[in-house]
Amino acid sequence: MELVILDTEAQVFELAARQVAQVVRQTPRAVLGLATGRTMEAVYQGLVRAHRDEGVDFSGVATFNLDEYVGLGPDDPNGYCRYMARYLFDHVNIDLAQTHLPDGVADDLEACCAAYEAAIVAAGGIDLQLLGIGVNGHIGFNEPLSGLHSRTRPVQLSEATIAQNQGLFDIPERMPRQALTMGIGTILEARECLLLATGASKAPVVAQMIEGPVTALIPATALQFHPRCTVILDAAAAADLAQRESYRWQTGA
Ligand code: GLP
Repeated sequence: MELVILDTEAQVFELAARQVAQVVRQTPRAVLGLATGRTMEAVYQGLVRAHRDEGVDFSGVATFNLDEYVGLGPDDPNGYCRYMARYLFDHVNIDLAQTHLPDGVADDLEACCAAYEAAIVAAGGIDLQLLGIGVNGHIGFNEPLSGLHSRTRPVQLSEATIAQNQGLFDIPERMPRQALTMGIGTILEARECLLLATGASKAPVVAQMIEGPVTALIPATALQFHPRCTVILDAAAAADLAQRESYRWQTGA
């Protein structure tokens, strides 16, 4: 795991956007794994700026989102399809036919998840997977006790995730209790992972992810197995790391 600790969240978002833009420049047909949530909003704004001001070209890029709520269709304002349109897809020259999200309103959710896995393989696998982290250590919607080799599947959302995310719904009670998510095994197959965490609320779980033992209780600890995973933190999210100073020295940050 490579760790970068920056002073402010703005620096985290900027560095992450620059790294994604660099992958797209180097690999015009890159396959990106995308995440949602508050953390990613500014990263996508940075990518929109890179497209507008520096001509970063998304026309050959394919994307696979980590997750979607069960019961929310592509036009639901609270669904991740609309989220992606709002923050990224409507503002760059991406081919929408090459953007993929699990179908939260599929008749057969299991079959839809199997097809999602097959589509990732058919696209050649994910080059770069963007990740946020839940306060309970989830990545995607892999909640505590998710199998460390799990694949894309329907899952039940935990109370912690409902509390964390329902404020993002126009009517909080309408937040679904189930979601479809890439599995931890699916995520670990990405050629590169880039996890971002900012703010004091993430500090305890970030310390567990980086310094704690690998456990299904904290799904993000599985990233310790990934051969090419970078974690970018602001000072607040890094505050509980026991060896913070030595990591700063190692990364030169
Ligand atoms: C949601 C997403 C996760 C994301 C998490 C972090 O639960 N399913 O993929 O990592 O939010 O959220 P935030 O960035 O809002 O803290």
